Amino acid sequence: MLSYENALKILDRYGKEAAWTKHCLAVADLASIISTALWEKTELDTEFLHSAALLHDIGRYVTHDPILHGVEGYKLLTELGYHREAFVCASHILYGLNRREAVQYGLPEKDFIPTSLEEKLIPLIDFLVEFDKPTTLKKRFSSLRKRNIGNDYFLTKLAEAELKATSFQREINEKFGILLEDIVNNQEGGKNESTD
Ligand SMILES: [Fe+2]
Repeated sequence: MLSYENALKILDRYGKEAAWTKHCLAVADLASIISTALWEKTELDTEFLHSAALLHDIGRYVTHDPILHGVEGYKLLTELGYHREAFVCASHILYGLNRREAVQYGLPEKDFIPTSLEEKLIPLIDFLVEFDKPTTLKKRFSSLRKRNIGNDYFLTKLAEAELKATSFQREINEKFGILLEDIVNNQEGGKNESTD
């Protein structure tokens, strides 16, 4: 079990206060706010959600490639013995990689598809944060499309990820009466400026 305190130490050690660590901290903060909102409605492993949200992008210490940073994060956290959090590094990429894609990118031959509530929440929260500012799914996906013009494979997967994120957000809203986009954007007065 990785405590949030130890997750912060890992972020410090490998992130070395690089700009991208601000995104990690913002996603972790929102994960904490969202878990408080969900806590009254459903069971949820809040420590795991918080730690895994903090480290979902830890692989950026090696690369900012939109897919391979997840693979690097998986490798690092597996080596450190944090297997659940390692899975999240790989499975947050485009809302999940199937067995064939996993092998293609150097991961073990299995599906890296988020299934638990916590695993599915992390990519959704990630898509609701542009660098370190809250945003909406619509704006975030539009910005990701612009950043990856020419990468047709990535854009096709991105369209699938947008459908998954939108439908999971709807499912949470229908089940628990909570719209994550609203919770996220009610922080800091709903700022949406993009700096990434
Ligand atoms: Fe990421």
